[in-house]
Amino acid sequence: MLSILNANVVTDMAQQEYKMLGDKFFTHKGMVLPTKGLHLNSPEYIDSLRDFEIRDDDVFVVTFPKSGTVWSQQILTSLYEEDFPDQVNETTYERMPWLELLQKEKDYSSRPSPRLFCSHLHEHLVPKGLQGKGKIIYIMRNPKDIMVSYFHFSKNMKNFEHSESYADMMDKFFIGRMLGGCWFDHIRGWISNQDKYNILFLTYEEMIKDLRSVIVKICKFLGKNQSDAAIDKVVEKATFNNMKQDPKANYEFMPKIITDQPKGLFVRKGTIGDWKNSLTVAQNERFDRVYQEKMKGLQLNFIWDIAELNN
Ligand code: A3P
Repeated sequence: MLSILNANVVTDMAQQEYKMLGDKFFTHKGMVLPTKGLHLNSPEYIDSLRDFEIRDDDVFVVTFPKSGTVWSQQILTSLYEEDFPDQVNETTYERMPWLELLQKEKDYSSRPSPRLFCSHLHEHLVPKGLQGKGKIIYIMRNPKDIMVSYFHFSKNMKNFEHSESYADMMDKFFIGRMLGGCWFDHIRGWISNQDKYNILFLTYEEMIKDLRSVIVKICKFLGKNQSDAAIDKVVEKATFNNMKQDPKANYEFMPKIITDQPKGLFVRKGTIGDWKNSLTVAQNERFDRVYQEKMKGLQLNFIWDIAELNN
């Protein structure tokens, strides 16, 4: 079991230069990535991204892992489908790559505009050019559901550390020993520095509550004029059931070196409050205590339970 968790432990990790975490992950300045896999992950590449040139019409979706990234990928790539008629047969992963996960033999700097990117990067690691150019959509999700989602996800990822119990998962979540690093640092960094960016904050929970309104909000933010019918089409493509069956969006195309359990990896349950089926009362109380301490000064009201949607 990892040693006890407090704000200082996280801060130490966030400041750390390159360091291996076991044999599967490395950390660099608070970011955690796998060492092996499909991508050319390295601390040098992370550092180089500070100078990655940003264009005015670049659009980034930034998330902590398991907050609704592939869902947003489906929405954004659908909204920009007309700009790229030659990409209709590509997966959302190809059409909207993660900036920090460089796909072999790809050069993200030469992608045609408007470029769409996802990123799990912490605020202090994103391209400096985003301060003044481009647009960012930051999606948040209640962290108990993120943790439970990641517990299932990591079990089926061959190059990831995984946890055998929720107690262990919670230890890792609190210190940020997981893809992306520490959720508490991630959210604090982005919320505290939001004034530097042209940024729209959304939540996974509001997407569950009323996907259409969220898509309308996204269109407004991006200055995209869409007819009602066009928006209906995007909503339809992004429903949980449609995404589950969409081979270009459900990530069942992941190769065997990554996972031999592709079903349900990225499009698994898709609800609010699954943590209630997983955490014990004591674990939940512990989570609440750490949450209260680490979130001090941040005014965020998450929806923790699907029943709250009707209130
Ligand atoms: P669960 O594991 O709780 O089901 P990410 O893309 O950031 O990795 O997030 C994955 C989470 O988003 C998973 O959560 C997945 O089921 C959920 N998700 C993906 N597509 C969705 C959709 N169309 N509607 C609702 N949830 C979706």
